Amino acid sequence: MKILAVGGGGREHAIVEALARSGADIYVCMKNNNPGIAKRAKDCLLAEETDLPKVVEYAMAKGVSLAVIGPEAPLEIGIADKLEAAGIPTASPTAAAARIETSKSFTRRLMEERRMNGRIRFVVADDMVAAGRAIDELGESVVVKPTGLTGGKGVKVFGEHLMSRKDILAYAGEIFDKRIGGSAQLVIEEKLVGEEFTLQAFCDGSRLAPMPAVQDHKRAFEGDTGPNTGGMGSYSQADGLLPFLSRSDYDDAVDIMRNVVGALREMGTEYKGTLYGQFMLTKEGPKVIEFNARFGDPEAMNVLSIIDSDFAGICEKMAGGGVSPKDAGFAPRSTVCKYVVPEGYGTKSMAGEEIRIDETAIAGEGAVLYYANVNEKDGRLYTTTSRSAGIVGVADQIEDAEAIAENAIRHVSGRIAVRHDIGKKDVLDARVRHMREVREG
Ligand code: AMP
Ligand code: GLY
Repeated sequence: MKILAVGGGGREHAIVEALARSGADIYVCMKNNNPGIAKRAKDCLLAEETDLPKVVEYAMAKGVSLAVIGPEAPLEIGIADKLEAAGIPTASPTAAAARIETSKSFTRRLMEERRMNGRIRFVVADDMVAAGRAIDELGESVVVKPTGLTGGKGVKVFGEHLMSRKDILAYAGEIFDKRIGGSAQLVIEEKLVGEEFTLQAFCDGSRLAPMPAVQDHKRAFEGDTGPNTGGMGSYSQADGLLPFLSRSDYDDAVDIMRNVVGALREMGTEYKGTLYGQFMLTKEGPKVIEFNARFGDPEAMNVLSIIDSDFAGICEKMAGGGVSPKDAGFAPRSTVCKYVVPEGYGTKSMAGEEIRIDETAIAGEGAVLYYANVNEKDGRLYTTTSRSAGIVGVADQIEDAEAIAENAIRHVSGRIAVRHDIGKKDVLDARVRHMREVREG
């Protein structure tokens, strides 16, 4: 089967590897020349992923019979609508269904209207007066988010990035003035306390097949400090749960996702594709931080490294119907993914610097390498402003997977940064302790 994959990051490299294991002939549209993807693909179009006429024309010319979209930007502007209109079934949501990610106000309101489990207190504000009233209503312990897409970097949290009412209002003013996230609208919501986790599910508009839970690390620096990023690394546990996450918490999160997909269907907006739920496990159970209309990056690298069912077949079912939980088979293994990023990532990345990645030595450590937003030019690799490469260790225990990833990272050099703490035993123990305190507190 000929399949179009869109995107050139670590997530998309993982998608392409999984499709290749299913025996698909892969055609890719990406904006950077990702060497890992280029190696697996039959052909690549180097173009902006949001240039929809170009992408659709390419897909038609190559005669693909299925498409999978990695990043959110083309989904927001309707790449799935355009491909399906051209007769190409697509395992990713339409622009209307992708609002679950692209509009935080849409999602919060949808959950509130239906009084769904997992909803939280929030106010949508379109001007400074409304922002001030939101603080009066919710108190100062809030999180401020532009309603539109910011690549995970637009969220500011009271007590971390914002220290007072004045700070909250100043950031609100900045969002309005600069139209951060593409519009002069923001969501102010209650600050949740607990442990975060990601749950991804394959979805065909009505049915869901959930994947193993993953914990990402959004902060740029060790010890969960510094600015929010797209994600610095992530881990998963062999049983599909996490050290602090019970089976019943996991099931509650699956129910929340099922309710959201059901609500979208009732609105006439079927959600087809991978649905990503980001949750905070609180004293009262899982609460929704946000949804994404795609795989997570890095989380895709955790789950797709251990998927042992036919991924291309699952994508066909997401596009055409027939997903069942049986479809999502994963090896009972733990994974740790560490992202190698350019120095300064999170504030000002050292882009355009050479980075050396010794593929053979990394494979020799038993680790899986996914190239991300690097550019290959004349046999050399250069950083961009985004993350450079994801390195995944797979083992029975998280600690062993961590050691594999860590050993492999020694074979990457250049002006780079890594969060070495991700997946380390003391960090995992601290998360379990934190969750116990939250539950008891
Ligand atoms: P988002 O872009 O919505 O995923 O948010 C980025 C990060 O901000 C999350 O990973 C959380 O660490 C934090 N965050 C977002 N919303 C909340 C919330 N309501 N309460 C506490 N932390 C939050
Ligand atoms: N890892 C978070 C995201 O993909 O948005």
